[in-house]
Amino acid sequence: MKKLKVMSVFGTRPEAIKMAPLVKELGNYDNIDPIVCVTGQHREMLDQVLSAFEITPDFDLDIMEKSQTISSVTSKVLMGLKDVFEKDRPDIVLVHGDTTTSFAAGLAAFYDKIAVGHVEAGLRSFDKMSPYPEEMNRLLTGRLADIHFSPTRANFNNLLNEGINKNVYITGNTVIDALKTTVRDDYVFECPELNDIDYDGRKVVLMTAHRRENYGQPMENIMQAVAELAAQKKDALFVYPVHLSPYVRETAAKYLDGIDNVMLISPLGVFDMHNLMSRVYMVMTDSGGLQEEAPALGKPVLVLRRETERPEAVEAGTVEIVGTEKQDIINSALRLFDDKDHYLKMKRAVNPYGDGNACRRIAEDLLYYFGMSEKAAEEFVAE
Ligand code: UD1
Ligand code: UDP
Repeated sequence: MKKLKVMSVFGTRPEAIKMAPLVKELGNYDNIDPIVCVTGQHREMLDQVLSAFEITPDFDLDIMEKSQTISSVTSKVLMGLKDVFEKDRPDIVLVHGDTTTSFAAGLAAFYDKIAVGHVEAGLRSFDKMSPYPEEMNRLLTGRLADIHFSPTRANFNNLLNEGINKNVYITGNTVIDALKTTVRDDYVFECPELNDIDYDGRKVVLMTAHRRENYGQPMENIMQAVAELAAQKKDALFVYPVHLSPYVRETAAKYLDGIDNVMLISPLGVFDMHNLMSRVYMVMTDSGGLQEEAPALGKPVLVLRRETERPEAVEAGTVEIVGTEKQDIINSALRLFDDKDHYLKMKRAVNPYGDGNACRRIAEDLLYYFGMSEKAAEEFVAE
């Protein structure tokens, strides 16, 4: 029997978390031969995810450098994948989202005339410079792709408006598939300090910040706002797993080191992270993935950015875009601490991003696209 050779290419933590359940799902089909190639754009943070989901890559480009540039990542992925395709040529390359790995891998596949499937297609902020370089990465990947897996109808419509109207499927986001396998009531954390926190007796805030467009003054504002909030809310606890980017680490240390009720910790394994998120009072973040996960877990989210490509949870009322001005961040956080009605309104669990079946839909749509099954999967419809 001819098998469809599907090569998933990813390189950063969020891509790995969102592609892991798909890699597993592709392994369940007799007529699919799944191959995994990691670029290693992230090293430790990628490896954490690979080991958590027990995925051993078939190829590893191992490209990461300290304080790497977008250009170096792009060129190393392009060159590295050319060699991989010579050794093992897939029928289709799957890339995810908006990282430089995704765009460069899509381009490498196109140069080799290999079909490209874009997972998490059609998200748009409509601002070329924010998020930077992700908005342009995902636009360009959308042009390169032959088949598009949009998480939501709004994402699908964004592609339609750009004239991309063939082979676009609405699948839900694979991150919700991942979340369904990670969160447990009786979970014991690998990071020992997290087991000692009194989640019911104390307001625990989970925060993360890493975006390149926030480097500089916006990131300084974020750290200063958290320092001030920690001083005002002595009985609250701010837990901050700090991204390994040297710039982020220096800025976090400069403003937040040594504050009693701020816990600066290393990046968490994904099981720890999801279970921590399920127990905290609220989330403050500039991350894309956290904006999808926290609403599903019923946690209010303050987004430390000026825009979002994920408007669905904002519309549902569980996510607020607060920007990166210090006083705005402080005001929005204090409101969630002090105004119970406002907190309860934002706390509702909503699932606009998926129902846990995105990976099955993507696999079925792939088989349909290649003429190996009679029909495409049913569309994901939000609650
Ligand atoms: C990248 C993606 C961004 C995504 C983010 C998720 C691009 C341009 N950016 O941004 O879209 O939201 O990942 O986290 O694709 N580092 C380590 N070890 C690691 C990971 C990173 O030391 O495991 C350090 C390295 O010094 C590296 C730096 O972090 O040079 C920045 O990594 P990079 O992938 O270039 O950018 P991110 O800000 O992580
Ligand atoms: N995450 C994690 N450990 C951490 C911080 C984040 O496992 O210490 C997970 C988080 O739950 C989400 C993903 O990493 O699934 C988000 O990655 P990140 O914020 O780096 O990137 P973005 O989503 O903004 O692209």
